[in-house]
Amino acid sequence: MTPVRVGLIGCGKVGSLHAVAVRSTAEAELAAVCDVSGERAEAFAARYGGRAFTSVDDMLREGRVEAVVIGTPHPLHAAAAVRAAEAGVHVLVEKPMAATLTDCDAMLAAAEKAGITLGVISQRRWYEPVVRMKAAIDAGKIGRPALGVFTMYSWREPSYYTSDPWRGKWDTEGGGVLVNQSAHHLDMLLWFMGPVAEVCGYWANVNHPTVEVDDTAVAVVRFRSGGLGSIVTSVSQKPGIRSTIHVHGTSGASVGVETDRGATFIAGMTGVTEPPLNDLWTVPGEEHLLAEFQAEDRERFARIDATTHYHAVQIRDFLGAIRENRPPLVTGTDGRAVVELFAAIYQSNREGRPVSLGR
Ligand SMILES: NC(=O)c1ccc[n+]([C@@H]2O[C@H](COP(=O)([O-])OP(=O)(O)OC[C@H]3O[C@@H](n4cnc5c(N)ncnc54)[C@H](O)[C@@H]3O)[C@@H](O)[C@H]2O)c1
Repeated sequence: MTPVRVGLIGCGKVGSLHAVAVRSTAEAELAAVCDVSGERAEAFAARYGGRAFTSVDDMLREGRVEAVVIGTPHPLHAAAAVRAAEAGVHVLVEKPMAATLTDCDAMLAAAEKAGITLGVISQRRWYEPVVRMKAAIDAGKIGRPALGVFTMYSWREPSYYTSDPWRGKWDTEGGGVLVNQSAHHLDMLLWFMGPVAEVCGYWANVNHPTVEVDDTAVAVVRFRSGGLGSIVTSVSQKPGIRSTIHVHGTSGASVGVETDRGATFIAGMTGVTEPPLNDLWTVPGEEHLLAEFQAEDRERFARIDATTHYHAVQIRDFLGAIRENRPPLVTGTDGRAVVELFAAIYQSNREGRPVSLGR
């Protein structure tokens, strides 16, 4: 199989994870890297390979790339994605897909018009405990999902927000904990529970006074299925404690995952140091499996580098989608649903009322 020529847009923190992930994937070749900082692009090319560019258009014109991975700050995702689609190049974009629904719609329209594959990173969907939950829910092992609870108690130092000029500001980040750290979990909650009908939410900035955006948010959710949900997400617990998603079904049975122990990892600064584990499994007749699942997942965790492994697995799914002309596991429409949900929570807080979702 001829490897797909991949171009990396954004040679920052997450870019380094993607460079390692792409290089570990036989189906891909890191053909080009691009950053507005020429110094960063050159340093990346020297370290990971590929031709260095400082402009997306130049890379699309001269880099002979067939797919791009976009790891720029989220309000800049759409511009690069649309340019790539217009050039007939497949797009895998980091989470969140964008900071606004307008941007998501521009990306979806450009992808559809060009007939390219558009995927959005949500690598925790490939965590084995998460896959196990999804399979149990889809198999009807908890009845229908009736209650989905996402909780994140994490921490970000003030220095995290000053590490790059775009962080912590409405204009250049589009939001705070809801948009950045929670995008993964909002995606998984929607994957487990289905689309949202209505949400009522609030946000606050508890202990990051130098930052404009939310470090804490809560919401109650009614799903289109009739199921209910709650979101409590925060980066204001020092030290960070855990992130979990628990799904309770109409049969009374429950399944759950602790995706992150302590604070969620910071790409390029910290790694995934604790294994993601199922922390709840009351499926009748399977209760005893919880200990086996945990032992299996701990054993695997000791063998892999979880900080890059799941990015590589998602990249392989994306390349498979291109090859097999099928949707990737995490589509542009899935990415849009996350943006729609956090935008609705901000709107609900602003207007002091529940907000309905759905196109
Ligand atoms: N999936 C994950 O676990 C994960 C982890 C970290 C970050 N992310 C996401 O990745 C994105 C980037 O985050 P980061 O922490 O790597 O940020 P970063 O600031 O470290 O890197 C962003 C890079 O993009 C470059 N850039 C800016 N504008 C550009 C343009 N027009 N063309 C080319 N390059 C440009 C910057 O110079 C910088 O090098 C964000 O959307 C973030 O949410 C995802």
